[in-house]
Amino acid sequence: MKKVIHIFIVGTGKVGTQFLKLISEKSELKTENGDFIFKIAGIANHSRMLINHKGINPADWKLNLLKTGEPAIIKSFISRMQKTDLTNSIFLDCTDGDEIVKYYDVILRSIPIVTPNKSANSGTYQKYLALKKTVKRFKTDFRYSANVGVGLPSLDVINSLLSGGDRITSIEGLFSSTMNYLLDKLLITNKKFSELLKEAHDKGLTEPDPRNDLNGIDTARKILILAREAGYKIEMSDIEIENLVPPILRNINLLDKFYNSIKIADSKFDSLKKLAVKTKRKLVYSARLRNNKVSVGIEMVDSGHPFYSASSNEKVVLFYSEFYNENPLIIKGQSGGAKATASVLVSDILKTVG
Ligand SMILES: NC(=O)c1ccc[n+]([C@@H]2O[C@H](COP(=O)([O-])OP(=O)(O)OC[C@H]3O[C@@H](n4cnc5c(N)ncnc54)[C@H](OP(=O)(O)O)[C@@H]3O)[C@@H](O)[C@H]2O)c1
Repeated sequence: MKKVIHIFIVGTGKVGTQFLKLISEKSELKTENGDFIFKIAGIANHSRMLINHKGINPADWKLNLLKTGEPAIIKSFISRMQKTDLTNSIFLDCTDGDEIVKYYDVILRSIPIVTPNKSANSGTYQKYLALKKTVKRFKTDFRYSANVGVGLPSLDVINSLLSGGDRITSIEGLFSSTMNYLLDKLLITNKKFSELLKEAHDKGLTEPDPRNDLNGIDTARKILILAREAGYKIEMSDIEIENLVPPILRNINLLDKFYNSIKIADSKFDSLKKLAVKTKRKLVYSARLRNNKVSVGIEMVDSGHPFYSASSNEKVVLFYSEFYNENPLIIKGQSGGAKATASVLVSDILKTVG
């Protein structure tokens, strides 16, 4: 018999839209655990929300939300979702901030959550742990495979090492596609860092405000989540982050002004490039958990290091453990993007109900 999965999705930006597109193209899936039908039972964003037990056509969600939706009140969306008590309900948080996280505890008492949003796992350690306890107590599920290195099974690897009795001693990773691109191009072209940054922005490779790539916070969140999953009690404030935005450019409001002024960072990158070329090393912006300490920043690696051969569109994670103590367990591959994220969400949803 086919199992119907009822999805309540909040957030219809890049990832949410790709997820709805994926479901509109393939609403039925056959897996080794059975046959599944995906039904969108609720949709919400900042402005509108809609709940329909019979299902909302994912190909037509925009018009439906506009015509039959109502002004969004997330608290009421959640309480109505819980009251409808549909079988195999999943709350899918595709929002970008931390506003929805405050409802997780209450949602998880009855309904599993799947999300690409890193906010819950990169907040305080106390809150991170509290959610794990809620999941255990109410026998629900909370899945977030898309939090780190979308498409790379980093969290699965940690779980599998730990459940085999291993202890993870160190993790290193390249998590920022923007930084991979910039540092790669810096070495192989004659362009200045400021020129490359503008170029990456114009190609749509950076965040709308590139300071959100350069400040290292997103990379820090990713290593924080991996470290916590590996059993380390670490807070964001424990992480040493190398912020590549010069201090005087951190509070400039106008992006144009920022781009005109970022040239002041060129000399630093010229020197780094000179040293890397001279010593035949490669520049990377990496995240590391080593000796119980977590740091994020620029590093120079030689040709024997697994980061050396990574291309600019690849993410890499290295795990050292009691078992993998000489040579790391390496996960490497192209990752990221809203489309890839949407398919990781489908996989998490299937694991939750399967
Ligand atoms: N994009 C990627 O490739 C990618 C990859 C991995 C993980 N992620 C993570 O996935 C999440 C979504 O990313 P995205 O790129 O889709 O972001 P996005 O395009 O900025 O979309 C965010 C959506 O969330 C909605 N939203 C935010 N706060 C809300 C609230 N309090 N109540 C209701 N709706 C709210 C926004 O509503 P409005 O449209 O009404 O403002 C918007 O629809 C983020 O946490 C991101 O870090 C993204």
